[in-house]
Amino acid sequence: MNSTSNVTESRMTGSMTNMAQQWVGALRWEGDGAKGVLHLLDQTLLPGRVEILPLKTAAAVFEAIRKLRVRGAPAIGVAAAYGVVLGCQPGAKGDNTSLQKQVIEVANLLAESRPTAVNLFWALDRMKRVAAGEQRLTSAELIERLLHEAQAIEAEDRQMCAAIGRYGAALLPDQGGVLTHCNTGGLATAGDGTALAAIIAAHAMGKAITVYADETRPLLQGARLTAWELMQRKIPVTLICDSMAGWVMKQGRVQAAIVGADRITARGDAANKIGTYSVAVLAKAHGIPFYVAAPSSTFDLTMLDGTEIPIEERAAEEITHPLGTQFAPVGCHVFNPAFDVTPAELITGIVTERGVISPVTEENVRGMVG
Ligand code: MRU
Repeated sequence: MNSTSNVTESRMTGSMTNMAQQWVGALRWEGDGAKGVLHLLDQTLLPGRVEILPLKTAAAVFEAIRKLRVRGAPAIGVAAAYGVVLGCQPGAKGDNTSLQKQVIEVANLLAESRPTAVNLFWALDRMKRVAAGEQRLTSAELIERLLHEAQAIEAEDRQMCAAIGRYGAALLPDQGGVLTHCNTGGLATAGDGTALAAIIAAHAMGKAITVYADETRPLLQGARLTAWELMQRKIPVTLICDSMAGWVMKQGRVQAAIVGADRITARGDAANKIGTYSVAVLAKAHGIPFYVAAPSSTFDLTMLDGTEIPIEERAAEEITHPLGTQFAPVGCHVFNPAFDVTPAELITGIVTERGVISPVTEENVRGMVG
């Protein structure tokens, strides 16, 4: 798919405070049923600017996922589901058979946007399955059915976030520091998030928690997005560079670490934003519990071991020229994996919407989400 397609025939912009007060979610479907438009908050511009992109084509959704305008495993899945609806709009006047073909084509194209978060493929497979089961509908009915499915994926994600929040909050200390990495909140999901939902719920219960947010190099999701979300919710947050996590733990400031995931295998190995593995190793060295929070849509039980998970590698410029400023000599060799894998042995528990998997073993993973 052409990733340079024009995403923004028009952008809605606003001062950060005005628009953020109205809406801090990642995306929203607007308009006349399946003829509508996907409104998406452009996360690459946060926290400085709030811009809402009206996405009208699957190509625009593809570009938004690839460029991380929308990111976070569950939000990517929801965006892709709506992308299928957008990609099928031109076929709404044809017959069911040609729309079936279009669903598959569009879903296959969207599947190429990013490789690691399994929620993307989970959502696309669900859209394809729904279409395949509705051979008797007219194409106009089928596209409405697809919209209904995308909305169900979004609504279910919101419910899963709420349940993860409840289970996760119970694990967090009554007071003290909780370290997190990357962004796992309302920007990364359709609800309050995964790891961040646990923190939000713990705060709402009255737990006196300070969040230590790793800035999360190279794209700074922790600094740009997590600190932003927590400050809006008035939850105490202290931003640290990734390299400070060990020292902050050594000083006794952190009583628990909790992160999200992009794909979790049957034995409980968890892929998440690069740097997560280091946090898990440091937590183990300091005797601090390390939790992963993720919905069942993030589990990939076709894979046993974390070595099977495809790890996205991104452009060298993200490291040599962060936010457009040159940090490294021209021509410098760069390795830029966007994710790492934390082995099950380092994970104290995996918080899902169905309960907490602990200890993290294949039997317990399959028992909870199989
Ligand atoms: O590259 P990103 O910003 O999409 O990476 C996101 C993460 O690694 C999140 O921790 C993960 O997707 C879980 S979001 C609830």
